[in-house]
Amino acid sequence: MSSHRLLVIVASTRPGRVGPSVAAWLTSAVAADGRFEVDLADLAEIDLPLMDEPNHPRLRRYVHEHTRAWGARVDAADAVLVVTPEYNHSFPASLKNAIDYLHHEWADKPVAFASYGGVSGGLRSVTALKPVFAALRAVPIPEGVVVPNVFAQLTEGVFIPSKPNLDGLRATLDELDRWAPALRQLRSRTGQAA
Ligand SMILES: Cc1cc2nc3c(=O)[nH]c(=O)nc-3n(C[C@H](O)[C@H](O)[C@H](O)COP(=O)(O)O)c2cc1C
Repeated sequence: MSSHRLLVIVASTRPGRVGPSVAAWLTSAVAADGRFEVDLADLAEIDLPLMDEPNHPRLRRYVHEHTRAWGARVDAADAVLVVTPEYNHSFPASLKNAIDYLHHEWADKPVAFASYGGVSGGLRSVTALKPVFAALRAVPIPEGVVVPNVFAQLTEGVFIPSKPNLDGLRATLDELDRWAPALRQLRSRTGQAA
């Protein structure tokens, strides 16, 4: 039975991107696992403008409906899985923009990463993301899914996971399952739990 709400964020937004193919496998595998209820947040569909809030997000004085809607989705999550490519040895600007819109909504939540790219498997992107989430008091976890040479695992747009991908996802979900209730309890103590 699903007990935690997992926000799966598709970070890339460009036409022809492969992010949704990787995310399609992840969301169906997470559903089959049964421990998490998935909310799939595709940043291309959400289409946030470049950060346009006049106040610091920690004040939560949002003036735009798009910010309130995005904030409500992150607020509702018990855990986050970021599906990200590597762009120029880091993560895409669309993802930084979506992170920067909010503040408290990220705090005291476990964040895991499924990264893909060329030979690096997107790991430089993940390494760059961890301090960003740590600055927001989210808890980046070491377990993750790493996909080097992502195009080799795509057949007519369908992503075929390797054994390391399947093992990585299982370890990641085990870890999110361990952290999510503990951090939910912490949020409830500080009045943050959704
Ligand atoms: C702007 C840009 C920069 C890229 N930089 C890297 C990189 O630094 N390392 C890497 O492994 N792949 C890099 N790539 C290749 C991507 O891994 C590959 O295009 C992947 O499909 C991108 O994800 P997306 O299709 O979801 O946008 C880059 C691709 C783009 C479009």
